[in-house]
Amino acid sequence: TPLSHIRNFSIVAHIDHGKSTLADRLIQATDTVPDRDMKEQLLDAMDIERERGITIKANTVRIEYTALDGEDYVLNLIDTPGHVDFAYEVSRSMRAVEGSLLVVDSTQGVEAQTLANVYQAIDADHEIVPVFNKIDLPASDISRVAEQVEDVIGIDASGAIPVSAKTGEGIREVLEAIVKLLPPPKGTRDAPLKAMLVDSKYDQYLGVICIVRIIDGVLKKGDRIRMMKTGGTYDVDDIGVYRPSMKPVKELGPGEIGYLNASIKQVRDTRVGDTITLEKNQTPEPLPGFNPSQPVVFCGLFPVDSAEFEDLRDAIEKLALNDASFSYEMESSTALGFGFRCGFLGLLHLEVVRDRIEREYDIELITTAPSVIYHVYMKDGTQIDLHNPADMPDPSTVAHVEEPRIKATILVPDEFLGDVLKLCQDRRGIQMDLTYAGSRAMAVYDLPLNEVVFDFYDRLKSVTRGYASFDYQLEGYREDNLVKMSVLVNDEPVDALSMMVHRDRAEMRGRAMCEKLKDLIPRHMFKIPIQAAIGGKVIARETLSALRKDVTAKCYGGDASRKRKLLDKQKAGKKKMRQFGKVDIPQEAFISALKMD
Ligand code: GTP
Repeated sequence: TPLSHIRNFSIVAHIDHGKSTLADRLIQATDTVPDRDMKEQLLDAMDIERERGITIKANTVRIEYTALDGEDYVLNLIDTPGHVDFAYEVSRSMRAVEGSLLVVDSTQGVEAQTLANVYQAIDADHEIVPVFNKIDLPASDISRVAEQVEDVIGIDASGAIPVSAKTGEGIREVLEAIVKLLPPPKGTRDAPLKAMLVDSKYDQYLGVICIVRIIDGVLKKGDRIRMMKTGGTYDVDDIGVYRPSMKPVKELGPGEIGYLNASIKQVRDTRVGDTITLEKNQTPEPLPGFNPSQPVVFCGLFPVDSAEFEDLRDAIEKLALNDASFSYEMESSTALGFGFRCGFLGLLHLEVVRDRIEREYDIELITTAPSVIYHVYMKDGTQIDLHNPADMPDPSTVAHVEEPRIKATILVPDEFLGDVLKLCQDRRGIQMDLTYAGSRAMAVYDLPLNEVVFDFYDRLKSVTRGYASFDYQLEGYREDNLVKMSVLVNDEPVDALSMMVHRDRAEMRGRAMCEKLKDLIPRHMFKIPIQAAIGGKVIARETLSALRKDVTAKCYGGDASRKRKLLDKQKAGKKKMRQFGKVDIPQEAFISALKMD
């Protein structure tokens, strides 16, 4: 295909504004997929994505479109994830295309991720076409949304296309706008091969599949390629395009987007953003490349049944093959035994991985409280990265501690603003900016990541009845008065419950934690003290009173079957418990105890 007849684009939107549905309609309107094979949200391949209605991995599809000018065009769509955890994937797929459709739900308006994503498109120098979706709904208000797009984002909305991805209204106009308004790619066919590795994924049957965007030159089956950053060389077994199922092609030329398969063993051998060239005829100038994504949230994953440790290792290794942004290392906890300390891009990412392990590998897990990486500066001048609060060195040897901070952008209807500001204040936030557009406020806060990873998003949604939207980016590290709080149950420290807290809030957090644990831990035959402590000093304490009578004592000499039933019942109830010294703690305590209300 000549460059003049190729258009490469992505769709940017806030979650639920209809990105995947619009993609489906574009695919359907161009007969890319026969109607009988059309499923809803075709591009969201994984089960979990389908179930939760979210897009996790970027996907691509090639659409062939005969425009009103009578010419045949090839449109390559790269679908990007909408959720805040995956902003990094958005930024890299943006670099492989020249334009974006900016989808805004016309019943909702501009949201935090609309902003975050459209700024990435602007950074990538995209031509942007606004598309106002869901015009079939009575609450749709095109002129209000147009005003917002112009005021808040600052781009011209006069050419915005009203559509309903549900009914198909306006889809033809969108296709025409892609052809007319988005620029064709640039590139030289005669130059040495220069291609961008946009993404890679693991396929059970085919091994690693790389999504590539050809900048210059031509890629053919049988070529020996070189990845310029990693230095790896491979023979190309197969190349093709997604329509959206894999369809082999003879060659991929400049401006085209497709896949390659070259017997690469694991996703970790590929580096997203790397430049692919021919071993024999190398391009002199590699692409600038991206920084690898870094896990920011860590937690421990332990099998409920310690006999399943090897199964868990197997599951984690398999998942890691397909997800280079997920990190893990073995961890042993006196309380929980052997498990893994895992790193994630964010909380949603954590949830997705945890769900997959439980569901696809059928392993019941104990998840410890999510934590961030602290920089601990020691008095002897050394510095350590603390991934697990349990490993915090003795406070007398520590000079100071730094924590990661984020810049959070929150959009919310005016009426809920007070609650949002209070929530941010409670989480040690510093207000950076507060502006209004229409009846909505945009608050920008500097917040400690630690205060956000746990349940901030849930709290935000609940105080605003779901109307707030939220996005963040990491800003850097800053010193604060941070200490490790340990929890002792029956005088034994439970390492999996230790956490880093701000000194000023330690008493409050300690009290809340002890009260929660008192509710969560069942009563035993003896009295159980529950304490929170900082460096040996107890700051909060509760006592769980003893059971007054042995529940089975009544049965003495009497009904033996009733006694057995009772014992069985107790045993079954214990399945999800872990023993700490003489005390059984239910697994949900590890997460619930840390929730702040
Ligand atoms: P992610 O892929 O998870 O980022 O979300 P998304 O932006 O792709 O949203 P999705 O396409 O999943 O749509 C969200 C919801 O809105 C779904 O329930 C769709 O059926 C619905 N929806 C999408 N477009 C329209 C529309 O034009 N009209 C109406 N009434 N509903 C729509």
